[in-house]
Amino acid sequence: MGRRYLALILLLSIVMSIRSFNLPTETVPNVSLEHLDPTLPPAVAAGQIPKCSVVILTQDFADTFGSPPAVANYTHPRECPFPWTRVVLELSVTATDLQRDRVAAVWIDGAEVLRTTTPLPMAPGAFWTVRKDVSRYAALLRRLGDPSYTAVRGNGAITMMLETSSSPLPGFYSANVSLHFYRGAVAATTSATAHPNTRGLYHEPADIILPVSNPQGYSGSGGFWFRINNETHTENAAIALPINAYRAILEVFVSYHGDDEFWYTNPLRSAYLNRPVGNLSTPRTNGGFRQLFVNIDGKFAGGHIPFPVIYPRSINPYFWSPVAAIGAFDMPTYDFDLTPFLGLLLDGQLHEIGLGVRDAQPYWLVSANLHVWVDLWSDAVRAGLILYNVPPIKMNRNAEWRNQDGQSEINAEGLWRFSGWVSSSRGNLTTEVRQKVKFKSQIEVQNRGAMTQVELNNKERMTVEVSRGHQMLGRAQMLMESPLQVQTTKVNAAGGSVFQKSRLFHQLFESVILGEGQAVTTSTLTDRQDAEGSALMHGEEPVWGSGATRSLYKYRDETTCYLRSVNTAGGVVMVDTTSPSCAAEA
Ligand SMILES: *[C@@H]1O[C@H](CO)[C@@H](O)[C@H](O)[C@H]1NC(C)=O
Ligand SMILES: *[C@@H]1O[C@H](CO)[C@@H](O)[C@H](O)[C@H]1NC(C)=O
Ligand SMILES: *[C@@H]1O[C@H](CO)[C@@H](O)[C@H](O)[C@H]1NC(C)=O
Ligand SMILES: *[C@@H]1O[C@H](CO)[C@@H](O)[C@H](O)[C@H]1NC(C)=O
Ligand SMILES: *[C@@H]1O[C@H](CO)[C@@H](O)[C@H](O)[C@H]1NC(C)=O
Ligand SMILES: *[C@@H]1O[C@H](CO)[C@@H](O)[C@H](O)[C@H]1NC(C)=O
Repeated sequence: MGRRYLALILLLSIVMSIRSFNLPTETVPNVSLEHLDPTLPPAVAAGQIPKCSVVILTQDFADTFGSPPAVANYTHPRECPFPWTRVVLELSVTATDLQRDRVAAVWIDGAEVLRTTTPLPMAPGAFWTVRKDVSRYAALLRRLGDPSYTAVRGNGAITMMLETSSSPLPGFYSANVSLHFYRGAVAATTSATAHPNTRGLYHEPADIILPVSNPQGYSGSGGFWFRINNETHTENAAIALPINAYRAILEVFVSYHGDDEFWYTNPLRSAYLNRPVGNLSTPRTNGGFRQLFVNIDGKFAGGHIPFPVIYPRSINPYFWSPVAAIGAFDMPTYDFDLTPFLGLLLDGQLHEIGLGVRDAQPYWLVSANLHVWVDLWSDAVRAGLILYNVPPIKMNRNAEWRNQDGQSEINAEGLWRFSGWVSSSRGNLTTEVRQKVKFKSQIEVQNRGAMTQVELNNKERMTVEVSRGHQMLGRAQMLMESPLQVQTTKVNAAGGSVFQKSRLFHQLFESVILGEGQAVTTSTLTDRQDAEGSALMHGEEPVWGSGATRSLYKYRDETTCYLRSVNTAGGVVMVDTTSPSCAAEA
């Protein structure tokens, strides 16, 4: 398919290059104002009324670069005491006029609960809503709802960052953040309460959530985000765990900016291979490999290759209107089961939890939450590290370039294993974490830089096993595969603009196999997008263009199947079908 397509776009690009382009003097697009994310099924089935709904933050974001986050105090509704069967966070935003796409986040008491990107508003009045099941952050909400805690603290508890500027584009963003609390029986669309990946590891919400984030969050210009500037840079937070903790999972949020905004399409240039160590004066040439990693007191404790969420201005902005790219509304988070390391952490002392991004260029915004489960029946839990096996990732980097044209390839393979025992009132249990990663990035540039083909694939397998002696008590296995293919041709057009034509295939496949005793359950998720179209770009701003995107989201487990299929073209939804049983497939 690749070759034939390349031949076709080569032909097209020749045709395009002999036609001149007139920049439209005024663009009045007739596009859908509502942007949507055709992914997760609703957290609760239609018609379920929350027991309480509270607007927790209302804010206009106009000129916010370099400003501290928006802050609001929180008052918990009395009629909705802890516990809750479900809590859903809702972010609704309107854009008054044209504006750039931006990255935003919401924190509850300093712990990030949502990282999101705004769509690129193509017309005044663009609006959208992001809903996220935040039941697993119940510990944060419970603490906020406790009057004795808030009385002592007396500080803003809900914060939101959305850095934007009202020039040159005039639009500003107007946002409302709400929480919906459900009590009693709640019918869900599927048995997945959140992202399937988290279902495997979180099970029950943690008892305590400790933010691993910038301590200057309320007043600093970057909010609670840590900013990672390069491959040698890690940011650390000093954390003291309760000494009766028996389980810990670190959940990391990331987004990429500046020179790394399109890291997944980066070629590997020969100049980079021959550079002196640490010299990044030739940005965007170090290839498409990145690894998010976690350290405990400087010791590597796990890594994940980030899923390449495509920002709304990337590849072709008209692909992402009105449908969001995979993960753009609710950016994926990365889980690190740190239970095997509890032996290093249960001494009541402060320990450094470090976050870094291998091969990073400026800059990445990261923050994390340490989810901790405590043993109420013990004053102190004992633990020890049994196995720590971290061979270096096998990396293979090749690059062949002649001027602008050529190709590069990066192959990476890694496997690491940790295990540790934790002796609590639940017994002396051993947790073993095994993770395997296989990554490949291939970039090909032809036709004096006019034609680019990007292929990326990442496969990860993570297994967490809990055993007592020789008896296996539980096992969670998560498989993830995320192929990305992008083909682009570019032609210079009149007035310094660039006409580009591109085609994309992107997919997130996940399967989770959970085994507890004799019971084994399997769930799979396929989230796929295919897009094709063209755009006339003036600098970074789209001037004119078209795009057609097909999105397919399918979740299946033992008892349910959920299917959503959305086709968009020219800025409007052409087809939008949902099947709560996948019946359409039969
Ligand atoms: C805009 O699109 C709608 C629905 O597709 C159509 O009914 C309407 O006539 C269009 N308006 C213009 C100005 O093209
Ligand atoms: C936010 O809430 C206010 C008050 O209910 C409402 O008038 C406004 O339209 C809402 N804005 C958004 C973006 O939902
Ligand atoms: C939050 O409450 C504190 C203490 O009552 C008060 O000083 C502060 O101004 C309030 N902040 C906001 C944003 O309302
Ligand atoms: C990496 O970033 C850190 C923090 O900004 C800086 O102190 C350090 O000098 C940088 N290292 C290199 C090699 O650029
Ligand atoms: C870094 O690399 C660039 C390009 O290869 C070179 O021009 C520059 O002198 C190098 N800088 C240092 C500090 O080595
Ligand atoms: C728990 O079991 C491990 C071996 O799996 C053992 O090394 C450790 O001493 C035991 N801890 C306690 C407190 O019994």
